[in-house]
Amino acid sequence: MKVAFVQPGLPKSGCLAVGVLETGALTPSAKAADAATGGAVSRAIAASRFTGKAEQVLDIVAPAGVDLDRLILVGLGKAAEVDARRMEAFGGAAAMAAGKGKSAELTLAVDALAEAHSSAALLAAHAALGARLKSYRFDLYRTKQKAEDKPTLKTVSVAVTDAKAAKAAWQPLEIVAEGVEFTRNLVSEPANVLSPAAFAKIAKGLEKYGVEVDVLGEKEMTKLGMGSLLAVGQGSDRESQLVILRWQGGAKDDAPVAVVGKGVCFDSGGISIKPAAGMEEMKTDMSGAAVTAGLLQVLARRKAKVNVVGILGLVENMPSGMAQRPGDVVTSMSGQTIEVINTDAEGRLVLADALWYAQEAFKPKTVIDLATLTGAIVIALGADHAGLFANDDSLAKALADAGASVGEAVWRMPLGEAYDELIKSDIADMKNTGGREAGSITAAQFLQRFVKPETAWAHIDIAGVAWMKKALPTAPKGASGFGVRLLERLIADRYEAAPLPAKAKKAAPKAKK
Ligand code: BES
Ligand code: MN
Ligand code: ZN
Repeated sequence: MKVAFVQPGLPKSGCLAVGVLETGALTPSAKAADAATGGAVSRAIAASRFTGKAEQVLDIVAPAGVDLDRLILVGLGKAAEVDARRMEAFGGAAAMAAGKGKSAELTLAVDALAEAHSSAALLAAHAALGARLKSYRFDLYRTKQKAEDKPTLKTVSVAVTDAKAAKAAWQPLEIVAEGVEFTRNLVSEPANVLSPAAFAKIAKGLEKYGVEVDVLGEKEMTKLGMGSLLAVGQGSDRESQLVILRWQGGAKDDAPVAVVGKGVCFDSGGISIKPAAGMEEMKTDMSGAAVTAGLLQVLARRKAKVNVVGILGLVENMPSGMAQRPGDVVTSMSGQTIEVINTDAEGRLVLADALWYAQEAFKPKTVIDLATLTGAIVIALGADHAGLFANDDSLAKALADAGASVGEAVWRMPLGEAYDELIKSDIADMKNTGGREAGSITAAQFLQRFVKPETAWAHIDIAGVAWMKKALPTAPKGASGFGVRLLERLIADRYEAAPLPAKAKKAAPKAKK
């Protein structure tokens, strides 16, 4: 899909989307469309239940007086609520409505609204982002698509007074959109195609953007003592891989931010095998690693002034004669031993070694892991928030703020010694499951045992948000790419802007209280 920024005015073909405010107040571009169509906009609103509430759509086909295929009215809600997020929903809703027809072009009219939160140029760029993200499709394996099922939309033009400024604002957002798409593609790939080695090979492709990429195989990981990660992959015929991605955009000696992703290319549960119903969704159990790879692509492509290391723990969890058994005891790279009670609690085994390696090898100031870790977080938070666990209040707050600003919400969950009781083992340092209660918390508490006390650490459980059963305003159902925008925002706001981490500054007023 091509994106262009053009001057306001009625287009001569395709679809035109205009915003309508709640209570039916027309935006300037809606007024212009109303005038050009002899009042069709006002009449359509009067004759329908459309009120201009956010994301409502009223589609006027072949309006008289203009050459348009359709005039699409999109609710913007209250003027004071119009922000980047709302404009992304506007772009997404318009692209969906346009897609119902067979037009190749869609024009999004973006007005300067006095009460809006940002300039019209920035709002216009976000409208484009919404249209782009919502139009994502994964059609790689369709060979018999009927012509009428194929997408027709080729160009989205955003009409805004300051088209030049809008185009400049779009540049970094286009890189973000492509990073999200890269992540969604990885998550959507089936596990027969995307083995750990195939994933590593794709990650290697990030070298073309200036990312340093190293891939460790089982031999190297054995040498490093990664008995916990390797145990998960030992039942699979496919070799486990650890991918190290390095973007050095900051000062040479500046400690990096490390992002660690769970990359279970398929999670059958292993010997503690999962039930058949829905097991196919476990091809998405590498979403944390896919988000990490997408994030590094974005940071490198926009030459972010920051040092970031991405660690992908890539394995396949399969049952076989070689698979680990319930009751096995493994020794992690940290030296701590783990009794494997349930081979389906494999993500924490992978992360235990990936987290430890990240800290040993790179001495990061901050470590953030992303993982489709627990079914329990889906029960607790559903698909509206990812679960956030952190040993550092300022990092947790920064993540919550970043999430709210990009529409990838996180909800903080507790950690605490009280939960340690649940993962005590009779014969090893810990066991890998804590029973039915507080499943997401015991998983996080387990991970924390592999985090050094001096490391600021956050764990984001994305099991409920990585793969959407329902479409979102800016995503079709399926792979969401949740986390790419969140961490991109966090890094831009907290680690890139100031030479000193925002942590020190923000903590100061608190300490005075
Ligand atoms: N990959 C799953 C968690 C998951 C569930 C991801 C649903 C996406 C959607 C994870 O490896 C797992 O199986 N967790 C178990 C842990 C249990 C055995 C302690 C779970 O949540 O049931
Ligand atoms: Mn599992
Ligand atoms: Zn898993």
